[in-house]
Amino acid sequence: MPRIAPSILSADFARLGDEVRAAERGGADRMHVDVMDGHFVPNLSMGSLVVKALRPVTRLPLEVHLMITDPAKYAPAFVKEGADTVIAHVEVLPDPRPWLASIRGAGKKAGLAVNPETPVTAVAEWLPHCDIVICMTVHPGFGGQSFLPGSAEKIRDLRALIAERNPGCELEVDGGVDAGTVKVCVDSGATVLVAGNAVFGHKGGAEAAVRELRNLVGA
Ligand code: DX5
Ligand code: ZN
Repeated sequence: MPRIAPSILSADFARLGDEVRAAERGGADRMHVDVMDGHFVPNLSMGSLVVKALRPVTRLPLEVHLMITDPAKYAPAFVKEGADTVIAHVEVLPDPRPWLASIRGAGKKAGLAVNPETPVTAVAEWLPHCDIVICMTVHPGFGGQSFLPGSAEKIRDLRALIAERNPGCELEVDGGVDAGTVKVCVDSGATVLVAGNAVFGHKGGAEAAVRELRNLVGA
């Protein structure tokens, strides 16, 4: 059954706790925390103190998406503050196995993210070491962007690789997921759907937005 992972990047940070609780009431399966260093992506977002602040607010798993150049340096702080899953970009890890093992060794789930311009074959060899792979369907750095053309085919290609090399690995789609694109993501093989603007920018609020997405995918 597809999982919904609201991205807090689009939340009202003046009311972050309330926003997360609303998404949880709506049936969110986990919360997606977008970390940006202003180097790997042209934007700065948040550090481990946000995971520390949210940890007592929700029982939902906190998954941290590191859009940063040095995940080995910064991942431990997120693990310490209570992250459940940490995902780094394959583009900055020539051989991600040691990094993946370090996260798993701390008892957390580990994964890789693939940018739109990176072929899914870039993660093929590493799939047996991953609990989750993110297929980026926007260029990373900002919420509220549009789902890139050609994404459905890329999701299908990644689904085929996962089926071949690690069927237990989750396939997460991240970027431009909303009521209009969620179905094609699931039909193409996604099992986890990140939604930022579609949830926290929804006129009915986060709780209604998550409910709507869950209904659309039969979650
Ligand atoms: C983009 C982030 C995404 C983004 C999703 O760099 O990785 O998680 O916040 O937001 P929407 O759903 O608004 O595209
Ligand atoms: Zn993300």
